Amino acid sequence: MNNSAIQEKISCLDLKGQHQQIKEEVFKAFEKVYENTAFSGGTFVEEFENNFATFCQTKYAVGVNNGTSALHLAMIALGIGKGDEVIIPANTFIATAWGVSYTGATPVFADCTSNTWQLDASKLEEKITPNTKAIIGVHLYGQPFDIDAVSLICKKNNLFLLEDAAQAHGAKYKLSSVGSFGEMACFSFYPGKNLGACGEAGGIVTNNENYYKHLLSLRNHGSIVRYYHNEIGFNMRMGGLEAASLNVKLKYLPNWNDRRREIGKRYQQEIKNDIIKLQAQPNWSQSVYHLFVITTENREGLIKYLNENNISPGLHYPVPCHLQEAYAHLGYKEGDCPNAEYLANHCLSLPMYAELTDMEVGHVIEVLNEYRNV
Ligand SMILES: Cc1ncc(COP(=O)(O)O)c(C=O)c1O
Repeated sequence: MNNSAIQEKISCLDLKGQHQQIKEEVFKAFEKVYENTAFSGGTFVEEFENNFATFCQTKYAVGVNNGTSALHLAMIALGIGKGDEVIIPANTFIATAWGVSYTGATPVFADCTSNTWQLDASKLEEKITPNTKAIIGVHLYGQPFDIDAVSLICKKNNLFLLEDAAQAHGAKYKLSSVGSFGEMACFSFYPGKNLGACGEAGGIVTNNENYYKHLLSLRNHGSIVRYYHNEIGFNMRMGGLEAASLNVKLKYLPNWNDRRREIGKRYQQEIKNDIIKLQAQPNWSQSVYHLFVITTENREGLIKYLNENNISPGLHYPVPCHLQEAYAHLGYKEGDCPNAEYLANHCLSLPMYAELTDMEVGHVIEVLNEYRNV
């Protein structure tokens, strides 16, 4: 492979380009927060909440300190606790499970399909017991799961549906934005996300006023009126500086997502190699390509080859949740979620961020197309 045009290693994610582009605007926004000393909660957070609810086409948004807290508080708002079970995909980032465990409830891990790598709706009902209270669907890698199919199972079995949209800001399911389908949807604004704060942050969106009011109280020490505490709450407020950076970045997000889609489409259409498998994309889903994951039998061989060709892939995620040591006490074993296990053992993530140049994208495609199983 001729690498002469590509001098620098192309990494899986690079945040520097994006942050250089908007540096002045973000610094001005920081200055305003500083002048107003609105460091925790306050007007900048409220402004972002309004903007983000509009973006998600929901009535309400509540800013919190990270996406894991968003899931935790959403679970509490649904009344989930000890003795309850919540079904979640085995292939997700572990925080989906933390939200359940923090309440004392038990996560129940379900397999994904072998081609979309999203929750397999046909395998959900066998996981339902009298203790099941909710299903959390995850729009993993930025691609929506089959919401109608999962929603139907929830309705039939009287379960709550919650969306973990931490990786999918702006993704669309059947032309509507994700975030408006479940009782609530949880987002992460971790810096590497499609919409990432300059710091840690997260949020919950909902159309339900009761959940909204409860979440406002839960994140603020269980208090609406200062120093009066109606219940045991948390300090999970969003910071003003984080909110200010998000307000700037939200304006750019549609363009950044468009560029990710452009790159994703090129990868989908131009990577042609029988030993590399891409994620199946049903026509009702419009991904925002938080990650571009592929699978191949000899992953170690491909990682070595990519590195030799100036491409540094990522790995999301090497161990499925049901086999994580933290959940050993639940007694899962290999073979319980075969598709999620296959994915964990064979996946890798190609470079994906809006600032990748056409030449870099072309290089990744060319290198992959020339790959032979060495
Ligand atoms: C699918 C998923 N859920 C939840 C989270 C948790 O978000 P955070 O890292 O902001 O706590 C993340 C991000 O890391 C995620 O990718």
